Amino acid sequence: MGHRAAIVGAGHTRFGVLDAGPRALLRSAIDGAVASVDRGVERSSIREAFLATLGFGGWQIGNASAVLAEEAGIPGVPTTHIENACASGGFALRAAVRAVEAGRTDLVLVAGVEKMTDVSGARRRYWLGVSGDTEWERLAGLTFAGVYGLLASRYLADHPGADEALAEVARKNHENGALNPNAHFQKRISRDDVRGAPRVAAPLGLYDCCPVSDGASALLVAAPDVASRFTDTPVFVDGVGAASDHLAVQERPSLTSFPASRWAAEEAFRTAGWDRSQVSFLEVHDCFTIAELLALEDLGFASPGDASALTLSGATARSGRLPVNPDGGLKSKGHPIGATGVSQVYEVFLQLRGAAGPRQISGASRALTHNVGGAGATAAVSLFSAG
Ligand code: COA
Repeated sequence: MGHRAAIVGAGHTRFGVLDAGPRALLRSAIDGAVASVDRGVERSSIREAFLATLGFGGWQIGNASAVLAEEAGIPGVPTTHIENACASGGFALRAAVRAVEAGRTDLVLVAGVEKMTDVSGARRRYWLGVSGDTEWERLAGLTFAGVYGLLASRYLADHPGADEALAEVARKNHENGALNPNAHFQKRISRDDVRGAPRVAAPLGLYDCCPVSDGASALLVAAPDVASRFTDTPVFVDGVGAASDHLAVQERPSLTSFPASRWAAEEAFRTAGWDRSQVSFLEVHDCFTIAELLALEDLGFASPGDASALTLSGATARSGRLPVNPDGGLKSKGHPIGATGVSQVYEVFLQLRGAAGPRQISGASRALTHNVGGAGATAAVSLFSAG
């Protein structure tokens, strides 16, 4: 199968508790993406743009796409706001790839942003909650940590001993994040730290959860036949897949599998014509440690129940045979909702160009990103290869 699109530039702000507001974050990530293009790019050659954001705290719930046009300096360009909760970034990339594939445009900007830390605790819980089911989950008092805590309880009941793997996911992702200058947390932790931390929603403790972060990321997506105008080392998008499911977890057949992730992965591998053994590393949606185990199983890299042994074997560490979340993942890098799916591709852009510095995976040539909205209600999966 041929390449569907090419990433020719990528930018990223620091993730964390930041002073900057959403507009400044957006501007900084886009400026970074433009500056990263090896042979330079004129903003006037951008033909279309997509913005991924939830509008957390109400900063710009409606018409945020006009803000994108302003901050990117691309007046006149059609811009579209994509909101699929935590999967907004993955769906925005998919929209860009489709626009390029349709032959309607040859250069598209994708940007994701969220400003989360400038609201009160009560408003934060409200804005996190709006992306979950209202009738059966939110109004019953369930937070996202609460929903994932239920999934983890079921998984641990089915697979005794998997709690050690949850602790290892957190330890590993903090170790990777410690090497990422953009990460919210850049500190190593031990499995004992994970086990000893205060419980947030049993069995999940503080270190099983992603933090609440500010940040932005941006990409320039070109048609494959014009990529060489911008760089000798594009990162090609070879497959994209996406799917939606019931919003409420109780409507689904299982608590320990997200069909949307499975469907999205099947479509991505089918459109790329790859098989799983060709993938060098994964960027998966580890909003809670249990989510990384579920992702490995739903994406087809482990059988049900086996993600635990795979993780404890060291295979998913940076030096293992299938590194997972070399940038620290949502757990350590942070999770500014709209920026997350875009940020995963930023890491792929660095790794597949050999530019990831101390966290570089040697020989990385193909990668997968997996971005989930809510507790498995929407999922986007993309496959990338080095140019
Ligand atoms: N992992 C590691 N450390 C964390 C952390 C996390 N997820 N969240 C906060 N901390 C640290 C802070 O840095 C701070 O450390 P310090 O005392 O050394 O400065 C300390 O814990 C307290 O931080 P605070 O912001 O007061 O924590 P909190 O109790 O208000 O929030 C959580 C902790 C886990 C509840 C919050 O991070 C959370 O809600 N995470 C989930 C977000 C979410 O649901 N996203 C959508 C996913 S689908």
